[in-house]
Amino acid sequence: MRLERTLEALARKAIHAALAVEVDPIVRATADAKHGDFQLNGLLPFAKREKKNPRELAEAVARELEKESAFEKVEVAGPGFVNLRLAPSWLGAELEAHALGTVVEAAERREKIVVDYSSPNIAKQMHVGHLRSTILGAAVVNLFRAVGHEVLGDNHLGDWGTQFGLLIVGMRRFGSDEALQQTPIEELERVYKLATAAAKEDESVASEARAELAKLQSGDAQNRALWQRFIEVTRKSLDVLYARLGVTFDLWMGESFFDPMLAGVCTLLQERGIARHDEGALCIFFAELEAAPADLKKVKEPFIVQKRDGAFLYASTDVATALYRDRELKTTRNVYVVDARQALHFKQVFAVAKLLGLPQRFDHVSFGSVLGEDGKPLKTRDGKAITLASLLDEAEARAAARIREEELDVPEEEIAATARAVGIGAVKWADLKQNRTSDYVFSWDKLISFRGNSGPYVQYAHARVLSIFRKGGLEKANYLGGAVLLETPEERELGKRLAAFGDVVHAAAETSQPHLLCDHLYDLARVFSGFYEACPVLKADGPTRESRLGLAAATAEQLRCGLTLLGLTAIERM
Ligand code: ARG
Repeated sequence: MRLERTLEALARKAIHAALAVEVDPIVRATADAKHGDFQLNGLLPFAKREKKNPRELAEAVARELEKESAFEKVEVAGPGFVNLRLAPSWLGAELEAHALGTVVEAAERREKIVVDYSSPNIAKQMHVGHLRSTILGAAVVNLFRAVGHEVLGDNHLGDWGTQFGLLIVGMRRFGSDEALQQTPIEELERVYKLATAAAKEDESVASEARAELAKLQSGDAQNRALWQRFIEVTRKSLDVLYARLGVTFDLWMGESFFDPMLAGVCTLLQERGIARHDEGALCIFFAELEAAPADLKKVKEPFIVQKRDGAFLYASTDVATALYRDRELKTTRNVYVVDARQALHFKQVFAVAKLLGLPQRFDHVSFGSVLGEDGKPLKTRDGKAITLASLLDEAEARAAARIREEELDVPEEEIAATARAVGIGAVKWADLKQNRTSDYVFSWDKLISFRGNSGPYVQYAHARVLSIFRKGGLEKANYLGGAVLLETPEERELGKRLAAFGDVVHAAAETSQPHLLCDHLYDLARVFSGFYEACPVLKADGPTRESRLGLAAATAEQLRCGLTLLGLTAIERM
């Protein structure tokens, strides 16, 4: 059900009848119910273009819209908006015709999208930023799929680069094979730190590392095998983490995969006149390129694709990756879920891709930092960076404690599993509910709370709606198609929320903003609880009872579907 689309079709018809023109009507849900349920916004830009009086146009269109049974009230507002209040009978019939808003229709145009997310680096602990990328990326993948796009989730692992020279030397000097087996990420990180420090002190270590790197890059069998091992052990422990998070990928095309293409990319960039040598390095100066975006032309520092010593860089890899996604994967959109600090890098990569003539849409789905309650980047109490595993452990432990305190309907033997779903869900929700571009403060108490805008609250709301069906010995699925009566204000409000689901999922997918879906689910849970207080369900009679059971079934179904899209478990009973 796509209510905004349906209303836009009505508005288009009205505009045509009133003004005999084609205008993009732009109908959006209002933020404040005082202004009606929806607002027609498209007349203002049209009037401006045509130098006409927008209010007069709006009046004429409003008179046409009044003829539609869809609206209870049509009102011209402000400089030339038209506010629309839906007629409950019409809304009820629309809900009935669309499985009460629980089905998400496919987008008009099916896209092929690569979503690049998580993408941690070998030999470095995943930090909270990678966690955010993982959680957001997985939700974005699900949202795209929900609206019918073909999606490839890609873990663009940082598995190549200068750190491997140091790692090889470091492993030889300081490494423990056993530790590499047991706790690979920690061991590689430890060794890497020691090797970096040693190379700073002692030039011979530095040159040894450079030599090992050169050997690795030219395909030396021994170093290749070592590198392979570093990746394998790292992947094993990453897999454990991803399994805990319930996150999967379709592709694991790390940086190393693109290495063989980099020389060719550099040649191509030179042939096209995009890159040139400067002090021995191969550079792109956007200021010198007429077709480059204006804001990049102001950046003084060149975008370096190959260093003076011949080494390729993060930049060259990302250009090669873009070319590969175009030629081999044939994408129509490339999405990068990476923190905001890399904004300039991606702007530059996207600009190069455009200069190379790549046709697809490029989106940097950027996000802010996670801060501790002191407003500084999240750390443990003793000031160390928090490991993801310990963060998730704590989430589960706190969830188990809360479940006991709240005396929920969870039998003792199920507490551990429920706590897992609630704890991990709480961490995910806290991340997703934010407008992703802002930083947010990580607070355990708000996160794992069964009140307010939190994962546990929405999971609990879902289980509570299901309990109505359990109590009545009824099957939720049998109630998703019947007649809907929106008689009381609470029923009406709930009907309106349910009808918005399709629009919300589409908007969240289109803009890669999962928080729009969080907002919807939280709102729906709250509105449902108001409805349930005011309107008896099981105790009602006849068509009213059927309709209310339908509203409850649709609420449960949207909560279930929405939670799942966001990567949370829709717990059946708690
Ligand atoms: N490995 C990078 C990092 O940790 C993120 C990679 C993001 N993806 C990309 N195609 N550059 O910062």
